[in-house]
Amino acid sequence: MVCTHQPPGRAGLVRSGDAPPPCEEWTRVQRLNLMEVSMMTETFDAVAFKQSQRRDWNGVAPGWRRWYDVVEDGGQAVTRTLVERAGIGPGDAVLDVATGYGEPALAAARTVGPAGWVVATDISAEMLAFGRERAAAHGLANIEFVEADAEGLSFDPGTFDAVLSRQGLQFLPDVPGTLRRLLSFLKRDGRLAAAVWGPPATVDFARPVPVVLAELGLPSPPPGRPGIFALADAGRLATLLAEAGFRDVETGSVEAVYETASPEAMTEWTKDLSAPIANLVRGQPDAVAERVWRKVTEAWAPLVTPEGRVRTRNQALWAAGTSR
Ligand SMILES: C[S@@+](CC[C@H](N)C(=O)[O-])C[C@H]1O[C@@H](n2cnc3c(N)ncnc32)[C@H](O)[C@@H]1O
Repeated sequence: MVCTHQPPGRAGLVRSGDAPPPCEEWTRVQRLNLMEVSMMTETFDAVAFKQSQRRDWNGVAPGWRRWYDVVEDGGQAVTRTLVERAGIGPGDAVLDVATGYGEPALAAARTVGPAGWVVATDISAEMLAFGRERAAAHGLANIEFVEADAEGLSFDPGTFDAVLSRQGLQFLPDVPGTLRRLLSFLKRDGRLAAAVWGPPATVDFARPVPVVLAELGLPSPPPGRPGIFALADAGRLATLLAEAGFRDVETGSVEAVYETASPEAMTEWTKDLSAPIANLVRGQPDAVAERVWRKVTEAWAPLVTPEGRVRTRNQALWAAGTSR
């Protein structure tokens, strides 16, 4: 069925008395958008949020394949920090939570070697499929990919020497509960090391967020909601680990640099890869989406290098702790 109806802008979504939507696809888009707007403004439904996370990350998985080099170049510094801070060595058993396309799981699998093993988990089957392909391409047979909600993971107490998570915890509705469970999966003196994004001013790739919100007249998400910046505070991250029962908690920061050939390419990168940002624009009429993405492209101007490239510098905060 071809849908000819142009959906209204976000501001129009909450009007009562709108004409009934003329096709199923539009109804689906409107329902999803209404759900997201209500999550940003009023009630928070963790189950609906996770459904949208699964859908959104599945949706951008092709983009992660397309821009893999850019992501991997930038992310390696963070991965190295996590593997090091978790004290991972040959023969270890490692759990990676929200592994996406398989990082830092693949790096851990190389470090633990054939005598060790890695379980890489994520809520998105499509992201995991890319991770599996990457593991196979690198000849890594000591890594298993499991589709699972981080908040529903279940392992025997003391299963792992280390737990890792790179840019995953901030998308979880119940971080304290999840940390307590992850702690229980660790052997005595096992280590957890996790990275999240730092405050917005330190994360260049997220420059589109205020631009998109302003262009679409959307409110900022209320504090406390899961999202890119939900854990952007090293002190809070350390407190969360300590309150979950970890000892010897330490935190720090490490920079991830993502670079593209032009401002237009950086906007494409954002559209293709950043589910939380792209999702805000999804379902908008073509003319509105074009205007928003044009503004986003303009916003990269301060980051353009003399060669015309765009270089984003992004601060990842990490925290690590030891099990008792
Ligand atoms: C920014 S990506 C990070 C992927 C990878 N670790 C990396 O650093 O490139 C966030 C990942 O969190 C996953 N995710 C979001 N909510 C999740 C949940 N409740 N349980 C497990 N994974 C989740 C998404 O599917 C996505 O792959």
